[in-house]
Amino acid sequence: MILCKNNIFYLNTNKTTYAMGVFNDGILAHLYWGKRLYNSFCEDEIFDFGHRHMAAYDCDNKSTDYLPLEYSPQGGADLRITGLSGVHNDGSSLTVLRFCDYEIINSKPKLEGLPSTYAEEGDKVETLTIHLKDSLKNLDVYLNYSVFEDLDAITRSVKIVNNGERFRLNTVFSATVDFYGLPKSDMIHLDGCWARERTVTRRDIVHANQNIESRTGASSAYHNPFIAICDKETTENHGDAYGLSLIYSGNFTAGVEMDAYNCARAYIGINPYKFEFVLENGESFQTPEAVLAYSPDGLSGMSRIYHKLYRTRLCRGKYRDADRFVLINNWEATYFDFNEDKIVEIAKKASEIGVDTMVLDDGWFAGRVNEWAGGLGDWIENKDRLPNGLKTLANRINELGMHFGLWFEPEMVNPKSCLFETHPDWIIHTTGRKQSLSRNQYTLDLSNKEVCDYIIGAIGRVLKSANIEYVKWDMNRYMSEVGSAFLPSYRQGEIMHRYILGLYYVLETLVTEFPNILFESCSSGGGRFDPGMLYYMPQTWTSDNTDALDRIKIQYGTSFVYPYSAMGAHVSACPNHQVWRTTPFQMRCNVALPGQFGFELDLNKCTEEELEIARESVVKYKELRKIFHTGDCYRLRSPFECDLTAMQFISEDKNTIILCIYSKVATALAEDEYIRLYGLDKKARYKLNEKIYGGDYLMGRGYHIRNDSEYDSKILVFKKVD
Ligand code: GLA
Repeated sequence: MILCKNNIFYLNTNKTTYAMGVFNDGILAHLYWGKRLYNSFCEDEIFDFGHRHMAAYDCDNKSTDYLPLEYSPQGGADLRITGLSGVHNDGSSLTVLRFCDYEIINSKPKLEGLPSTYAEEGDKVETLTIHLKDSLKNLDVYLNYSVFEDLDAITRSVKIVNNGERFRLNTVFSATVDFYGLPKSDMIHLDGCWARERTVTRRDIVHANQNIESRTGASSAYHNPFIAICDKETTENHGDAYGLSLIYSGNFTAGVEMDAYNCARAYIGINPYKFEFVLENGESFQTPEAVLAYSPDGLSGMSRIYHKLYRTRLCRGKYRDADRFVLINNWEATYFDFNEDKIVEIAKKASEIGVDTMVLDDGWFAGRVNEWAGGLGDWIENKDRLPNGLKTLANRINELGMHFGLWFEPEMVNPKSCLFETHPDWIIHTTGRKQSLSRNQYTLDLSNKEVCDYIIGAIGRVLKSANIEYVKWDMNRYMSEVGSAFLPSYRQGEIMHRYILGLYYVLETLVTEFPNILFESCSSGGGRFDPGMLYYMPQTWTSDNTDALDRIKIQYGTSFVYPYSAMGAHVSACPNHQVWRTTPFQMRCNVALPGQFGFELDLNKCTEEELEIARESVVKYKELRKIFHTGDCYRLRSPFECDLTAMQFISEDKNTIILCIYSKVATALAEDEYIRLYGLDKKARYKLNEKIYGGDYLMGRGYHIRNDSEYDSKILVFKKVD
């Protein structure tokens, strides 16, 4: 619910309040974000901030350098990191924004050309738009806030409309939030690299700017577009946690700058690095959407807000709610060494244990017989490998009662390809300079609509040529020597963002044209696991690293923002192909179970015992997936902090609890542990196999675990009995 009383805006969800107010002189001040407030602010107290020596007093007898501000532009007295900066046509870089008016509507409009959360009929969602203006330069700024009352989330985005002379925009964050009195707090972010994505890093917020960013052209494996801010005492299930997440797949930055007085500004948005967007008179710029989630119930509480919002009001289409596929992918089974019969053999064995989809990975098209051969860009089946074509292969897979899926990497081109020979200027490059290769490929210039339309046409033709029901959409290189032959010289700073807009246009067109296909995003594994991609594809291949121990960490970190329903998780062969570790088959299955479960190996090479575990796991997965994917998730023990990992899921009806436990070492080395559960009915009793436990006991004392062996793993299902 959004209220406006005495020039103060209260954005209330069921459990939280976010507030801002119009201050003297039309300045929009940030007032509060946290637990739900039921009373109005004491107005005398609101702007009672002390003197700051040497600051410029640009606002009555105060300085915008220390006032808590809602969205501050650069160039004036506020010397902190600001949300907006740009250069006006006269060369000045001072923008002055003052409150004009506001509007509250009972819905949530779409963001033009960008992914965003949405409201459905009956949802309690309202949107507040605050209009700020630089009247000297005729620059209008619209701050949009949507309040998801039942989901406890607030989304923000900014639209700049230039009604004056040319304005060169070079910073435009989606959100900034000023925190007051933030000593002894931590910032959490998810960093990593290929095969080690989304490592949880928790660090002190010090009197400086601490930030994360991507400059790769993609959201990247290096950093995820998310930060959390929390007290030192905050744990997974206790204490205040504030999250900022960005629905965007390109270069971003997020961080916290704390000044000497313990006042801190958090921010998130497009990375100003190499970014400049020229706005002529009448042109506008829409930022991506930031999602703010506050929880008093610890980091897991914050994550549950993101899980539900992203699963139900960001993901779209047929597969948002439908059970997805249990798939087997041939990549690690064959790499580039396959033919039609080999794929059918793999599928046949998989179908015997209940797998329902066979995905043919890289190498089915043009001359692509290895990474160094040509082919990317030419989406025509390779007749040497598949002499009967994709259609026949898809039919043979369908005859086994399975769906057929296919791999693409549509944003790329190999130097040896008809596409590159015909259109050498269609790649991201700087004219006159050598363009570097990565994995022997160039990035296509998606800032050029002609290139986007080529991709739509080429991929669409393949999708229509056979019964393809699943697509793995891969992207395997970061950008370098960024330039575009398509854009004029003064717009070269727009490429990285226009690339993402082009990508979103391609994806929107294809997912609309093929609503029955399940799309899964991939970028050398989890190199573009972000909320932007989830809008088009409800799941992402979490990581190329399928080692059970590493995957526990990767999935745990990923779950800070993303639900398990969004994580592709497969069982692979041992010794593992990424880290060469051997873990028990059972553990590999148990680690993959909570995600979108599948296989990444040739089951024909498994032992009878392994096949039996695989078969049982598929059965168990089908039985439990609804709870893993739609239930509430509580993280209980972190693999980043101890040798034991534990997570708990509670079904929506609260009658079933799943406890997942993974241990790295055997009992002799580990301590006996009681793992406390959360969210149970304290008066109820719960049955695990033949044992009955009280809800109060499981939450008070906990479930006792003693691990029998190294790499032990358990999926325990408690059923409420009364
Ligand atoms: C990337 C993906 C893998 C596989 C290969 C194929 O690395 O992450 O899963 O599809 O490409 O080349």
